[in-house]
Amino acid sequence: MAIKRTMQLLIPSLFLFSLALAVTGTESSSSSATATATKTTTHLRFYMHDVITATPPSYPVATAVQVINGTVPLPNDPTTHFGDMFAIDDLLTAGPDPTAPSAEVGRVQGFFQFASLTEYALLLSANFVFTAGSGKHNGSTVAVLARDVIFDDVRELPVVGGTGGFRGATGYGLMRTHSIDTVGKNAVLLIDLYLDV
Ligand SMILES: *[C@@H]1O[C@H](CO)[C@@H](O)[C@H](O)[C@H]1NC(C)=O
Ligand SMILES: *[C@@H]1O[C@H](CO)[C@@H](O)[C@H](O)[C@H]1NC(C)=O
Repeated sequence: MAIKRTMQLLIPSLFLFSLALAVTGTESSSSSATATATKTTTHLRFYMHDVITATPPSYPVATAVQVINGTVPLPNDPTTHFGDMFAIDDLLTAGPDPTAPSAEVGRVQGFFQFASLTEYALLLSANFVFTAGSGKHNGSTVAVLARDVIFDDVRELPVVGGTGGFRGATGYGLMRTHSIDTVGKNAVLLIDLYLDV
């Protein structure tokens, strides 16, 4: 069942549209050719588990690890600094439960950094690496470079490229906080990606 869900998740589903390219010969004005390319919009929905504090059994290891301590504290928060940076290799799952069988659909690998002197605004620079399914999306990646204002309801993720089945992808994502543990600072994030390939 989880595999079926995963397959559905990874099958390009939404819209098909054609992009007609008119190619006109430059040497002979009387000859012209028309080529047609198709673009597919793929919607992927999954959950990202940002684990700063390991909490077994659900989260046996921390997957978001602080690698740089900034020096300038944010206003009213002496424990968070401009420049704090975390390397991430976070689990991606089809549903919000990380322990569900066959839940894993991939990982998100990269980093985030507190990039504002005054706000909880991160630079998120990461690759989503998909590992589910036997189809062309298994092994494909999507690169994102985003501003993540962590307490906003919705954060937009610009897609800057992709590989494999997502080679040359453009589009965007929407990130929402599904749940947060304010003590351990762990978060489960709901992500929708809309990819034009
Ligand atoms: C950051 O600072 C804290 C508190 O001083 C320290 O415990 C931690 O090891 C430091 N982390 C890094 C990556 O330097
Ligand atoms: C995804 O690809 C990897 C590497 O080729 C393979 O080991 C794995 O079994 C594939 N996953 C599924 C669910 O087919």
